[in-house]
Order: sequence, then structure tokens, then C-alpha cells
Amino acid sequence: STPWLKPMPRRSMPSITTTKSSTGTGLKTKSKKVNDLRLPSQSLFNKTIALLFSKRSTRTRVSAETAAVLLGGRALFLGKEDIQLGVNESVRDSARVLGGMCQGIFARVGDHSEIEELAEHCPVPVLNALSSLWHPTQILADILTLHEHSHLFTSPSPSSTSTSTPPKSLRVRELPPLPPLTITWLGDSSNVLHDILVSLPRMGHKVRVGAPKGRAYECPEEVWRRVVELGCEGNIYWTSDPREAVHGADVVVTDTWISMGQEAEKEQRLKDFQGYQVTEALCAEGGAKENWKFLHCLPRKEHEVDDEVFYGPRSLVFPEADNRKWTIMACFDLLFGKWDLEAEAESY
Ligand code: CP
Ligand code: NVA
Repeated sequence: STPWLKPMPRRSMPSITTTKSSTGTGLKTKSKKVNDLRLPSQSLFNKTIALLFSKRSTRTRVSAETAAVLLGGRALFLGKEDIQLGVNESVRDSARVLGGMCQGIFARVGDHSEIEELAEHCPVPVLNALSSLWHPTQILADILTLHEHSHLFTSPSPSSTSTSTPPKSLRVRELPPLPPLTITWLGDSSNVLHDILVSLPRMGHKVRVGAPKGRAYECPEEVWRRVVELGCEGNIYWTSDPREAVHGADVVVTDTWISMGQEAEKEQRLKDFQGYQVTEALCAEGGAKENWKFLHCLPRKEHEVDDEVFYGPRSLVFPEADNRKWTIMACFDLLFGKWDLEAEAESY
């Protein structure tokens, strides 16, 4: 299983004291606390990961760059203005060249077919940093965040509306289990939703989607095929009524209503999403659970969720954003760090 690499909070790190005697290094760790220290694997030592981003990013990019450093390697940011790809060079040729120089590619693309093509022609692993259809590293952060806050879902007592730090006993390597939850999505059928649809039902959770009527907001056929292949459809309920969607929700999730590349549809989308803003009133009217919590992948606009919810005690959005880093770090360690270049090179 993938090791959970998220380090303990700084206050739990071992205290290091200088000493004149002992080991010759001048450093001595206090043995009582040393077991708390989890040094990240240095699996990217001497390795470079190409961040091939044709769209903007704050969380995914910074997570990747800082995670690569912690794993002992480096990330090379290649924005769409920086390289020949898409102007003077094909995806196929770029994939082959970058794969010859770097040990992994983390790519944020437009159409999903671009990442499929990259992966087909690249001699090193390619990880999806967001495409038109999927955002797989986002769902990992969301799942980690829900598990870390499982204590908020098990008891509906008044204190459970707090988003305070998990109890100390839970800040350990093993993640606490989650009870089966009802997760409501309000928004269009975006890349972020698609990874929810193929993952949370398999973990025993129910997903309720509230999306306006219309082809632009429905699940694309190729995504739904995957949902069915994975046996997830039985745990998914779809409606165009946002109040009905939040009924019984433990968690309400939304995303931008206008994904990158859909800017020309902004006016129409804002009209179609009237009534979908996540608010206390909407969730109370629809009958969400008393202690419902809120997730958003960010960046966020106020028309999607009001300030009361977004900055209030129900919101897990900032721990969720922090968790992008630790989950991307785990992916880099597993996919890029532990990948055997020589063995792969032989079969290439
Ligand atoms: N959630 C997310 O992917 O954010 P960025 O676009 O800032 O990377
Ligand atoms: N659905 C959004 C996610 C941004 C992180 C987009 O594709 O722009």
C-alpha cells in the first residue's frame, strides 16, 4: 500500500539539541521523540519531473514543485509559452524528447486525448494533473481530508460542527476509517466530479449530483461507461433540483461553474446555475444532515458558495488544499521515484 507521507505537525518533530561531546556531528536527537519523525523518502534523488502545464494552476503546481524538493529531486515547470509543444512540435515528439531527459511527466492539458497521446509515446510515467475529463490527484486529497476529519461524521453532537484539528490520537500513520457517507455534488459534470463518480461509490459512499438540465452539464458518455464498468452507478443519484440533491448530505461539494476553457459560456452558465449556490439556507431547506461539511477544490467564486459556508466551521477547503501536496507527493514517490528506469528502458 502507498505510504502516507504527510509529516507530523512541526511541533511534534523531534527536538534536536547541540552537544559538545558524543557523536562528532555535534547533533544529538532526544530519543523519546525520535519515533515521531517521518523523513520523506528520497526516491527522486537525482531525478527531474517535467511539469507540462498548458493551463493555470496554483495548488497542483506548488504541490508538485514542493513535493519534488522534499523527495530529493526537482520539478521543471514548462508552461505553454515556454516550449515548442503545440506551436512548432507535436505531442508525440515532445513526449519522446521530454521522456528521454526527465524521469516523469506531470501534465495539465486541455482535451483528455492529449494526455493519452503523451502517455502512449513517452518512455517514462505520465501522471494527469487535470484534463477535460479527469482530475485524479484532486480526489486523493479529498479522500485524505474526509478520513482525517472522520471524527466530525461519527457523532452529530453540537461540537461536531467544529473543524478543529483531529484529536491527537488520529494524527498517526494509519488513517481513521470513515463511516458510509452521502456526498452531494452541486455543479456541472466536471473533471472533478468524474473522479468522485468512479471512486467514492467503490468506498461505500453514496453520491448525489445536482446539475442543471442540458447536454453541457451531463456526464460525458465515455465517463459514464467507466462509472458502469466499475460498478458505481448503483450508488449515484442524479437530479436537476439542488434542494433534492442535498437531501441527507454529510458532505456538500462544488467546483467552479466555468471550468478553464469554458470562459465563452460564462453568461449562459451563470443563468443556468441560478439557485445552485451552496448556502446554509439551501442545505437546511433540502434537508442536509445537521453537521454537513463542505469541500471545494478551489479556486472559488462567491456565486458558487457564500462566505458564511466557505469561511465557516463546516468548511474543510483549506485542509483539502494542503492535502494536495501530501497526496501528490505520495504519487510522485510511487510513480516516479519507485519506477525502475533501466528495466523500462529495456522494454522500450
Ligand atoms: N484544485 C486545483 O487543481 O487547483 P489549481 O488549479 O490551482 O491547481
Ligand atoms: N473544473 C475545474 C477544476 C479546476 C481545478 C477546471 O477544469 O477548470
